Amino acid sequence: MLPKIFTNVPGEKSLAWGRRLGEVECRNTTFLSEDWPIFWERAEGANVWDVDGNRFLDMTSGFGVAGLGYGFTAEALRRQSDVLMHAMGDVHPARVKVELCEVLSQITYERWEGRKGKCLFGNSGFEAVEAALKTAVLATGRTGILSFEGGYHGLGYGALLGQGIGWFREPFEGQIAKVTERIHFPKESEGLETFRDELGRVDGSKIGAVLVEPIQGRGGIIVPPDGFLHELRAWCDEVGAILIFDEIYTGFWRTGKMFACDWESGGRQNDEDARLESRGPSEGNQARLESRGPVVPDLICLGKALSGGFPISVCVGRAKVMDAWPESGGEALHTSTFLGNPMGCAMALEAIRCYRSQGMEGVVQHAADQLEFGLSRLVSLNVVKEVRGIGLMMGVQMDSGERVLDLVKAMLRAGVIALPDGPKGDVLALTPPLGISGEEMEFSMELLKGLIEF
Ligand SMILES: Cc1ncc(COP(=O)(O)O)c(C=O)c1O
Repeated sequence: MLPKIFTNVPGEKSLAWGRRLGEVECRNTTFLSEDWPIFWERAEGANVWDVDGNRFLDMTSGFGVAGLGYGFTAEALRRQSDVLMHAMGDVHPARVKVELCEVLSQITYERWEGRKGKCLFGNSGFEAVEAALKTAVLATGRTGILSFEGGYHGLGYGALLGQGIGWFREPFEGQIAKVTERIHFPKESEGLETFRDELGRVDGSKIGAVLVEPIQGRGGIIVPPDGFLHELRAWCDEVGAILIFDEIYTGFWRTGKMFACDWESGGRQNDEDARLESRGPSEGNQARLESRGPVVPDLICLGKALSGGFPISVCVGRAKVMDAWPESGGEALHTSTFLGNPMGCAMALEAIRCYRSQGMEGVVQHAADQLEFGLSRLVSLNVVKEVRGIGLMMGVQMDSGERVLDLVKAMLRAGVIALPDGPKGDVLALTPPLGISGEEMEFSMELLKGLIEF
């Protein structure tokens, strides 16, 4: 539904809740001012209602969580919470945990390689990353990590090892082990040369884990050149490192494929491939093109849209790699109170069932075409430096962070929720729910164009 705004935004009630919160929450958590934030009362589909009764259109999917819209897994939650809200995840687990592990194995390693994958659950996304980093240590005996500038993997101490946006790390640097090498994350427009040079200088014998987002999200919606993941895969194979794809943001059709790494199996093409193909299938060219099969990570981290709204995350890995963990003798080395929570598992099962039954490629493609068309009309405006992204994960690079912040606030006043992104906040991120309607998308695009022109 289109937005409907009855009050100033934020309205009186939101402002009052803001004052109350300011008294009792850590002051670093929620940004509070006269024009920010609105307090949410309920949400459905692509809409959010605030405490003042205003209806908004959420072009963020609530940080990418509300895959097919708010509430699409609510019925599964209701059914599960009626019978079992909690189990003893690593001792006497819920039945649904088994079912979810089986489905996660099917959609990852069984789909990619015809072999089972194994799961290690967490609650928040960063916990899946930490589980992956621990797995890599056990599998390789090496503590070194290779990660990327601009990379974002969450803010737990383990995940901070991979953090590529410096200011998230800096106050805590003294408690973070110096085990990480960070190299440049290449943009699509730059090609792979700088990345190759920098990778060539890394001492692979020390690296146990290569941690990477196939498309950087929080770093400013940065799409790497096609072939990037293939080269990382080849490097990991050469030096014996574990390749970890952090698909917490990009997973579950955000980019138009089930996972962003699925694009490297032929959906996108770099210039060189296009040239090779146009030259025809000489034997050498053919072999090179055919060698570009799917890029399969050793471990994949998933969260956010996995459940559509419950804090559950997972690291799924090749069984051979995951079996680096010793068999449990009664004490798990890595677990937590809520591991494999039955409500989260039931919601994730329902979310994956919905994604698999809806012909998502078509659903996302349709909305993505509309989004791309809307954004293409912005590129001629002089404050817009670049429009980039894939599927329903798009970023508008603008000339300054202030410009994006003003724009985001103006959009909010008009009823559309959006967020700044990138280390400097100068990217407007648009990641709407996958099931957004044509009318909703058109409204947002018209609004955005009008506000930028103004
Ligand atoms: C790629 C990526 N990894 C990890 C995380 C951390 O997830 P969480 O905030 O649920 O811990 C995020 C969160 O935005 C993310 O985008």
